Amino acid sequence: MCGIVGYIGERQAQPILLNCLHRLEYRGYDSCGIAVLGGAVEIYKDAVRVKALANTAPSLNGIAGIGHTRWATHGEPSQANAHPHCDCTGKIAVVHNGVINNFQKLRQQLASEGHNFVSETDTEVIPHLIEKYYDGDLAKAVEAALHEVEGSYAIIALVSGESRLVVARKDGPLVIGVGDRENFIASDVPAMLDYTNRVIYLEDDDIGIVSPDNIEVRRHGVEVDRKEHKISWSVEDAQKAGYEHFMLKEIHEQPKVIRDTIAGYVSATEKGADLALLGDVGLEGMLILACGTSYHAALIGKYILEELVRVPVKAELASEFNYYGHTPVRSRAIVITQSGETADVIKTIRRMREAGCWVVAVTNVVGSTASRIADQIIYTRAGPEISVAATKSFIAQLMALYWLALPYSKIDIRKLDNLITGLRQLPGKVQQVLDNESAIAELARQLASCENVFFIGRGINFPVALEGALKLKEVSYIHAEGYAAGELKHGPFALLGSNTPVVAIVAQDNTYEPMLTNIKEVKARRSPVIAVVEEGDEVIGELVDSVITVPKVDAIFSPVVNTVALQLLAYYTAKHRGCPVDFPRNLAKSVTVE
Ligand code: AGP
Repeated sequence: MCGIVGYIGERQAQPILLNCLHRLEYRGYDSCGIAVLGGAVEIYKDAVRVKALANTAPSLNGIAGIGHTRWATHGEPSQANAHPHCDCTGKIAVVHNGVINNFQKLRQQLASEGHNFVSETDTEVIPHLIEKYYDGDLAKAVEAALHEVEGSYAIIALVSGESRLVVARKDGPLVIGVGDRENFIASDVPAMLDYTNRVIYLEDDDIGIVSPDNIEVRRHGVEVDRKEHKISWSVEDAQKAGYEHFMLKEIHEQPKVIRDTIAGYVSATEKGADLALLGDVGLEGMLILACGTSYHAALIGKYILEELVRVPVKAELASEFNYYGHTPVRSRAIVITQSGETADVIKTIRRMREAGCWVVAVTNVVGSTASRIADQIIYTRAGPEISVAATKSFIAQLMALYWLALPYSKIDIRKLDNLITGLRQLPGKVQQVLDNESAIAELARQLASCENVFFIGRGINFPVALEGALKLKEVSYIHAEGYAAGELKHGPFALLGSNTPVVAIVAQDNTYEPMLTNIKEVKARRSPVIAVVEEGDEVIGELVDSVITVPKVDAIFSPVVNTVALQLLAYYTAKHRGCPVDFPRNLAKSVTVE
């Protein structure tokens, strides 16, 4: 949550900072601000989106600066609470992503020493601490200040009189972009893709001193070498490419994402390379942990592994497991995280590794915290996902899980061959769902005026119901609940009626008959039913109000086509309601606080 950026070079900093911030807005968007280092430090900030800030900002002259886009944790979105924050003299400015746990104590102590605070934020203690220790060397003052800080942070600091930026990180993402006589800093790579694809990832406790033609990284006062990496993502990957919203573009990218993700892995029948993760232990007793949409992938992963590998698997919410999960006795765990930065997931990885567990991270972001602290990584190849609502990253996670399970599969070889063929056909099947877009968009009109919607599914499509509901509530603000179809009559039936539609996900597996019964029960309570059904099904259409037809696939792959249909349903419902699809209120793309 929160995005930070920095620039130092030969060009005017202001437009570059604003452009980078605009690209980083998915990390938080309730307020924003910039500080430019000219003769003095000039700050402009407000509780508005980046575009609005750019429209009203005066021209701040300077070739170095920092910027911030905020997702509020301490203090409401307001001009005073927006970053950058300053010391008493106004010479030191800081942007911060993270949470300072001991800020109350530090604030009291600094106030008693005469420091004056103007915001409610935890961040404001940092520039004041830097001021306290500053004697002409910003890097040393930052190091001393951070020594007193407990919590997580990625910060960029500047001071008038020094032509360099000082950056530091601990449990917060931070990347330095390398340019030609100019350098960039950002929370995330997509922010800088307009300017460079050469990056340096900092480690926890690193302090970077960035000037136009030099990047020095120190750790506990000693210079260390941090390698430069080349990023394969292009500028176009992080742009809308003519689509009205990133969410729609990302939904449409899914055939390619499936192709790219599975092409990145070795043969499904070989236990080689990327897939030799589990050694002799295999998948027995595997624990899969994640949050949000990634947790829904974890739940589907449980079904996939239990069905194909025939071993019991547990899927848990990382945020719960960290407090109530038993100390792991299992020797392997899979964590799934698109961003690789979700605080609860990072805590899980650390906790499990401390307990001697081998942790495999499924992540989409090279260089993310998860990728650096896990024992082994499976990268999904979804490309940058900008929309706050996860779509293509989820489908890529499913691909990773299928590909992980297949080599260990205990099913008949002929069936296995069919599944591998089926997996390779998925891009085409997903394209068929996308080709049905206008019919789904039309159906979404019906949902757009509703207050409540239920999603029901069974077996491997129960998590799809959860995901369909999450997507709808997240982008359209309609209250939606995902339920195991058999559970609806154990309480939620009280809410059914003609104003409460039910979206039923019907797969051609052993859940088909009970789903028919559940649909009839719902219809008897006068709820309109939209059914997601496989092509060729002539039974369901007779029972329900509307159908969304998806192509025939093996039932184990049905979550892929069904989810894509529900993503489109959520997108168009939100669009019909005029919601800010890519940036839903109160949310942020990567949740870096617990
Ligand atoms: C879903 O649309 C959300 N953006 C959210 O639930 C997300 O999946 C969750 O925060 C987990 O993120 P991660 O995959 O980056 O760990």
